[in-house]
Amino acid sequence: MLVAANLAAAPAVNIEQRIDALLKRMTIEEKLGQMSQSTSLATPLSDEIKQQIRQGRWGSFLNTGNAADRMEAQRIALQESRLGIPLIFGRDVIHGYRIVVPIPLGESASWDADLISRAAREAALAATADGIQWTFAPMIDIARDPRWGRIAESLGEDPHVASVLGAAMVRGFQGESLDRADSLAACAKHYAGYGAAEGGRDYNSAWIPEILLRDVYLRPFRAARDTGVATFMTAFNTLNAVPATGNGFLLRDILRNEWKFDGMVVSDYDAIAELTAHGYTSDARDAARKALLAGVDMEMVSTAYFDWVKSLLQAQLVTMKDVDGAVRNILRLKFRLGLFDGRPAAAKPSDAQALDTAGRLATESVVLLKNSNGLLPLKKTIGKLAVIGPLADSRTDQMGTWSMDGDAREVRTPLAALREMLGSDRVLYAPALKSAIDASTAEFPRALRLAHESDAVVLFLGEAATMSGEARSRAFLNLPGAQEELVERLASAGKPMIAVIMAGRPLAFHRSAEKLDAILYAWHPGTMGGPAIAHLLFGDSAPSGKLTVTFPRSVGQVPIYYAHLSTGRPPGANDLGVPMGTRENPQDYTSRYIDLDFTPEYPFGYGLSYTTFEYSATRVSAPALTSAGSVTISAQVADTGHRDADEVVQLYVSGPVGGSVARPVRELKGFKRVHLKAGQRQMVEFSIRRADLAYYNSRMEFSAEPGNYRAWIAPDSARGTSVEFTVGN
Ligand code: BGC
Repeated sequence: MLVAANLAAAPAVNIEQRIDALLKRMTIEEKLGQMSQSTSLATPLSDEIKQQIRQGRWGSFLNTGNAADRMEAQRIALQESRLGIPLIFGRDVIHGYRIVVPIPLGESASWDADLISRAAREAALAATADGIQWTFAPMIDIARDPRWGRIAESLGEDPHVASVLGAAMVRGFQGESLDRADSLAACAKHYAGYGAAEGGRDYNSAWIPEILLRDVYLRPFRAARDTGVATFMTAFNTLNAVPATGNGFLLRDILRNEWKFDGMVVSDYDAIAELTAHGYTSDARDAARKALLAGVDMEMVSTAYFDWVKSLLQAQLVTMKDVDGAVRNILRLKFRLGLFDGRPAAAKPSDAQALDTAGRLATESVVLLKNSNGLLPLKKTIGKLAVIGPLADSRTDQMGTWSMDGDAREVRTPLAALREMLGSDRVLYAPALKSAIDASTAEFPRALRLAHESDAVVLFLGEAATMSGEARSRAFLNLPGAQEELVERLASAGKPMIAVIMAGRPLAFHRSAEKLDAILYAWHPGTMGGPAIAHLLFGDSAPSGKLTVTFPRSVGQVPIYYAHLSTGRPPGANDLGVPMGTRENPQDYTSRYIDLDFTPEYPFGYGLSYTTFEYSATRVSAPALTSAGSVTISAQVADTGHRDADEVVQLYVSGPVGGSVARPVRELKGFKRVHLKAGQRQMVEFSIRRADLAYYNSRMEFSAEPGNYRAWIAPDSARGTSVEFTVGN
């Protein structure tokens, strides 16, 4: 386990003694300097910043400077500051570095923990070679609202998926041991509840009852902590009326006391200053006090600690013990990373490996949503292919939300890849719209003409990279600009029509979908998205991605997620419509909409392939689970089509019935990506122990209450057959 390896690499006792010795020698200014993180390193280093580093004014810099600046700044800190305390350089290395992999929501649709871990490792190799030692990833906020722009950066709606894949990212970023030159300290963010922003509006308040907080929102954070994540970042939002950045319940009671986390906690950008905007503190001094007492070690960007903690000490509103506790956590991180011991920058890796991983991850993240009459894959013998749409050839949009280090020159677009594959003269290209939000239809006639001249149309639709991510919430989930009209117009050509949708969130595009014969949902697929999509379109690879977030039919259904509780009046399949002029029918009184089907457009876990898979009935190895034992849940999965492909097999559980609380209709408990050859069958098994079934009960105890449980092995959250088993006292 990573934790053990880290501790072994840097003996804990020795580190604590070295910290004790330093704390004795540090002035209060030096301590507050350690607690301060700045964005203003600037290139080239000014005399002023050099002097500040000598004086120990900063403990860390984020998202600033180039590799040479960082090296020089570190040299000054180590050699010319009074105590030789190193700096730590942080950066948002979120989905790749110079070579960009799909946005995290896309990565998660691969359900491939090993590949995701490898992508994080490669980003770490590239970033550490540039003198970066800390990334602000993974973001493991549960996101159940596609209006929220940061759903792009999340691993979706499910705590099990976010736990497993978030932990894979932590392992990838940090590598074998934190003190290695190529280890990038990870950061579990944003702690906590950020994804539950009311109305899907970024930074907005979150109200999460403790039972839901612990069962769903905190679970991936606990998993990150158990994997040995080096740091946590506090969230911007209020959680149950207390800002997360001044929240002692989250930071002291849970993170430190319950979970025994001994890494470092950083605030989010300016979040300590913003405590006053929340109305939680009266001014910056009060904000410094509340954040420090709550347990925030390092302040990102705002300067409340440096400006006010001295005065708070004088007034005895905080103690030196509080300050030393924060500084200790910061220094411990720096020791663990080997920064005191002159850790070198890592060697620059070659791009080949990163490009390969980016291509594989882009391929595995694409979800086939629709494929009428097996239109896809297309045949390479096709005559002419019309490639239309604003995202067919947009290098920057393809890279997605967090790609500040992404090198646009490396990006291979679908247009380029298709031209390479088919030859330029067989690809007829018209962007039709200047950008994703372009509302002008002026170029449509040309696009329509090309559609008429071609044998099939591939439309590249979706969102610009800047439409998702931080502060990019949307009130509508439609295809933006005139894209839906474009679909409508091109449909009149009567040619087979395929859409590849690149977006940072689930979109709701029901009417367009009806006009399309096939839909590949590609998220923002990163540097290698173009070739990955071209190969999928023409069957060199088969789609295997599955949704990690529910797609609504309309924004009016939001929030909609698969692991909901049952109502007392669950709707039936055809419950829809208003009884006009007829007597009221008691059967209408169900939990439905009168104007829209209550089910999602595409359920969580859903995704098609170019072959078909059949699942046998789910089986259980024993009727009862004893406290020490386990049961095996199994099903046979068969590739009943004509080609080899991967299938993501999912295990869901519900229950118990009759416990102290009502339980979700289903919860994901496991998944496996299996590779099957055409015609092959495979037994897929999952073992369940009692601990795997644990949840928070009405007394806020974490355990699996006795009773009847149900398990499904299924291709998605809406299908599959179930078996029952009991858990005794
Ligand atoms: C974001 C964080 C990010 C930080 C530093 C903030 O605005 O919420 O996720 O790590 O900026 O760029």
